[in-house]
Amino acid sequence: APLIPTYEETGSVPGLPVEARAAELTVILPTFNEARNIPVVLERLAVALDAVAWEAVIVDDNSPDGTTEVARAIAANHPTVRVIRRVGRRGLSGACIEGMLSSSAPFVAVMDADLQHDETLLPKMLAELRTGQTDLVVASRNVEGGSSGTGLSSIRAWGSGIANTLAKKLLHVDLTDPMSGFFMVRREKAEELAPKLSAQGFKILLDLVSSAKGALRIKELPFTFKERLHGESKLDTLVTLDYFGLLLAKYFGNIVSVRFLMFGLVGASGLVVHLIALRLFLVVGGLEFNLAQTGASFVAMTSNFFLNNQLTYRDRRLHGLNALIGLLTFYAVCSVGVLANVGVANLIYLDPSYWWFAGAAGAIMGAVWNYAASSALTWRK
Ligand code: GDD
Ligand code: MN
Repeated sequence: APLIPTYEETGSVPGLPVEARAAELTVILPTFNEARNIPVVLERLAVALDAVAWEAVIVDDNSPDGTTEVARAIAANHPTVRVIRRVGRRGLSGACIEGMLSSSAPFVAVMDADLQHDETLLPKMLAELRTGQTDLVVASRNVEGGSSGTGLSSIRAWGSGIANTLAKKLLHVDLTDPMSGFFMVRREKAEELAPKLSAQGFKILLDLVSSAKGALRIKELPFTFKERLHGESKLDTLVTLDYFGLLLAKYFGNIVSVRFLMFGLVGASGLVVHLIALRLFLVVGGLEFNLAQTGASFVAMTSNFFLNNQLTYRDRRLHGLNALIGLLTFYAVCSVGVLANVGVANLIYLDPSYWWFAGAAGAIMGAVWNYAASSALTWRK
């Protein structure tokens, strides 16, 4: 056993205040599997914000590594720390939004909990907001004095460059680092914009700034992106897809939701799957058309179910037995869609040289039904 008791045994972190005071600054720490980083980041915040009345809000998405438990143990000893545990939901942006809305302080900061963000910048950001001349301070890797340091792999740096350019070109967001996950904002502004923000994905800052439509007075401060302390990044291909979804949705002025766009993309992929399967069943399998079209519909529905579960409804993702039940309800409600599908296709297939048109028209009938049915039944809230 270690001679010095650890935070796990005592739940106390050196230097972290033990008295509650009305906070001027709330630091939001979104977490997913950051149990080992939490005590360290809090200890560093205590040093950096020694002269500030601050509080930390840890927003954890029910991490399997016990982040919530570690955070709760600390919060039990230090009222400076609050914990929000979200169950059945995932997403960095959503976690940040809920954290900001849980604050009553005039200023809120959003910062990664893995020590990649330089907490010593917080007092400077706060000083900027206190002047009353600024609504949002962004820690940027791309202004004079800042850098991506060793925090980004070369492929990530390249992708980040493209994402920046798109944000500027499509959304006219005038930030040097719109992907930054490190910023501080006047709470009332965040509160005002909250109803317009998307809870999915990582791009909370870009979303805030583009939703504000130029109404925020913004200042950028340089910082160097450091390496993660423990654990690994959660930014994956799905998060990247989400980002493009957000760009498109914002570009089209929020007429359509990110979810609807994603559903449309999945539907388009389902159409391709459907036609390939149909062709295979007809030519290779030598099946009669009705049977081939029905079979192709099931192949496409299965593929759509899994893709929608991964992408479109990733925040309501069904796992294990629930996914199986979900798939079955998806089949059940869509069997009506399949009937419509086969019916329409059959009418057109009276002339077999139009097999592709018959297949596509049928599949579209099925897809429309799938959307209505799945959002109401399979992934209902
Ligand atoms: N609650 C919650 N839910 N927190 C999450 C989730 C989630 O689904 N996904 C990630 N987080 C938390 C992590 O635990 C970490 O504290 C922080 O959000 C950042 O996540 P990372 O997984 O470490 O992201 P990254 O380092 O790859 O990306 C960072 O750099 C990007 C720019 O290169 C982030 O700061 C991004 O916001 C930023 O765009
Ligand atoms: Mn990170």
